[in-house]
Amino acid sequence: MTAASGKGPTRIRLGFVGGGRGALIGPVHRTAARLDDRFEVVGAVLSSNAEKSVADAAALGIPNGYGSLGQMIRAGGLDAVAIATPNDSHAALAIEALDAGLHVVCDKPLANTAPDGRRIARKVAETGLVFCLTHNYSGYPMVRQMRAMIEAGRIGKVHLVQASYRQGTLATAIETSDDIPARLRWRLDPAKGGGSHVMGDIGSHVHQLIRYTTGLGIDSVMAELGAIVPGRQAHDTGQALLRFANGARGQMLATKVAHGAENALAIEVHGDQGGLEWRQSRLDELTWLRNGEPQQILTRGSPYLEPLARQACRLPPGHPEGFHEGFGNLYRDFAEQVAARLEGREADPLAATIPTAATGLDTLLFIDACIRSSETGSWQKVER
Ligand SMILES: NC(=O)c1ccc[n+]([C@@H]2O[C@H](COP(=O)([O-])OP(=O)(O)OC[C@H]3O[C@@H](n4cnc5c(N)ncnc54)[C@H](O)[C@@H]3O)[C@@H](O)[C@H]2O)c1
Repeated sequence: MTAASGKGPTRIRLGFVGGGRGALIGPVHRTAARLDDRFEVVGAVLSSNAEKSVADAAALGIPNGYGSLGQMIRAGGLDAVAIATPNDSHAALAIEALDAGLHVVCDKPLANTAPDGRRIARKVAETGLVFCLTHNYSGYPMVRQMRAMIEAGRIGKVHLVQASYRQGTLATAIETSDDIPARLRWRLDPAKGGGSHVMGDIGSHVHQLIRYTTGLGIDSVMAELGAIVPGRQAHDTGQALLRFANGARGQMLATKVAHGAENALAIEVHGDQGGLEWRQSRLDELTWLRNGEPQQILTRGSPYLEPLARQACRLPPGHPEGFHEGFGNLYRDFAEQVAARLEGREADPLAATIPTAATGLDTLLFIDACIRSSETGSWQKVER
């Protein structure tokens, strides 16, 4: 398929799957896709219930509502789809889209199992289509600055990493109440949410953030996964010691029992010449640490930032940017890669760092190793 031709930049013809009224992340996808005028939204399947899907599309002003992805594909006129449905449907939907020759944006985790993740990654490699997995924190300018500085050797050889994602959403046995939100109900069901709830839901973000910023592979893990709240079946907490391929050591924590924690995502990376610290609660700042020198706080929007970070800044320093803009940066980079294919040109190399299906598979293999380690109480290699 080709995009509508004409003068001016190619707009990618996009269809959404998932994210009807009341959904959490679907509306963020829709906003992110609008920020840079690189997409034309042509249709949507907003619910597994065909009637609701059509009604929601009409209510949201999306031109065409469909009852299924197959129906939307058959209607034609698409270059790409964006999937924001519960985890258990990602694999079938992504493969259906790729088989139809469509580029794909898909929310994390890539799938619930490594074999499903491998099928998607293989299909992406075979088709050569663009696949963006929305680990949206890697769209933040100061996370990109961290990556660029580490890659440029500004902290020397990385030797220590610590990263955590703390939420308070499961600090009490909320699942015993009858009126838990639908999005929590499917998440806590292992058939829909995955074998380790906390690792698939937020541990996946921690793993991707470590991989994105350091560029280092994780060789083996010693992990403990489980439930801290008594009586709970689903994993609410996962922690792991990490051995990196370059010899570095690290720790990660993903938990939902930290009372009052508000999506507290943070990472510290230390090398033999300095360290860098970033946290979501102060997402516009990156702290640069060096023994014997004052801490230096680098800020978003500043002219001294690396090109990868500058390209991700939209407003001058001090004007707040946040979650939607970071998400939008992934959509913009995805659009740039797709448009380059459609226009027969090279894509901007700064658009090349978006998480892919291979990234998602890497995370699923990491989670598998954590599960094996937790069950056996031993160090486990992360498969490739
Ligand atoms: N990147 C992030 O920061 C982030 C944040 C939240 C959720 N997520 C991911 O996004 C996905 C959705 O999570 P959520 O919290 O928005 O869930 P949700 O339950 O709030 O919304 C899911 C939506 O998908 C629709 N849906 C379900 N099955 C469908 C199907 N077969 N076809 C079309 N629509 C269907 C539902 O009607 C609903 O509108 C999950 O994979 C989750 O892990 C990512």
